[in-house]
Amino acid sequence: MFLLQSKLRECALSRETAAGRIRKRGIMSRKKIIAGNWKMNKTPSETIKLIEELKPLVATDEADVVFCVPAVCLTTAIEAAKGTNIAIGAENMFYEESGAYTGEIAPNMLTDIGVKYVIIGHSERREYFAETDETVNKKVLKAFEHGITPIVCCGESLTQREQGITIDWIRQQIKIAFLNVTAEQAKTAVIAYEPIWAIGTGKVATTEQAQEVCAAIRACIGEIYDAATAADIRIQYGGSVSAASAPELFAQPDIDGGLVGGASLKPDFGKIVHYNK
Ligand code: PGA
Repeated sequence: MFLLQSKLRECALSRETAAGRIRKRGIMSRKKIIAGNWKMNKTPSETIKLIEELKPLVATDEADVVFCVPAVCLTTAIEAAKGTNIAIGAENMFYEESGAYTGEIAPNMLTDIGVKYVIIGHSERREYFAETDETVNKKVLKAFEHGITPIVCCGESLTQREQGITIDWIRQQIKIAFLNVTAEQAKTAVIAYEPIWAIGTGKVATTEQAQEVCAAIRACIGEIYDAATAADIRIQYGGSVSAASAPELFAQPDIDGGLVGGASLKPDFGKIVHYNK
């Protein structure tokens, strides 16, 4: 009995130190990443105007700043952001190299024009365009193959949260999204935790809810790979992030920035980037 208790204590202690190690190493080395998701907004000419307006507001070397823009605005955005700290990302990409896939965009079309990031598996794509965990995995693998950093989205619905299955659901999404992804690749990935009920609703998750799930995602990455990978991967929160909510959210130990929809189209995005000022 005594032996069992001391064994259990030992286990708990070693778990604590593992979590502590992940935390310490991570906080020391992870740079925040704040990405705007423009969704289906802005024409190419409006893109120039918005980037002109935002570029002085988002200038920083403390965080990575990414604008994910509609496919037809990518070239214009890359031109407009030249010489700034803004990296340009796509909002989607197909998992084949080329061929008869009308309307789709191949990874080398993105790299050819200088796209650095791609959002994969946003809940709107899952809901309206039938993306599944399996297609998300194929796209993630393809993005890595081409040296594009995927921003891999996950998140639960309101029903799932109310049923108490949030963490199980997210772990499943993560495990499938990262199938056959190597630890070296995973270290450079970005995961965006976006509760579906918080997207575009003005209903931001509480800091505790967001931190709890982001910590669970990091632990899951630790299980799939190792403590070093868990410590390096960057995890964003997304869902109605605003200049008001960003400071507290981004100060959480497992939240490394945000994926921002509505507020990324406004000067407020500058305040979100400078959340700690
Ligand atoms: P929101 O969108 O900030 O408008 O809620 C976030 C997202 O969908 O990425």
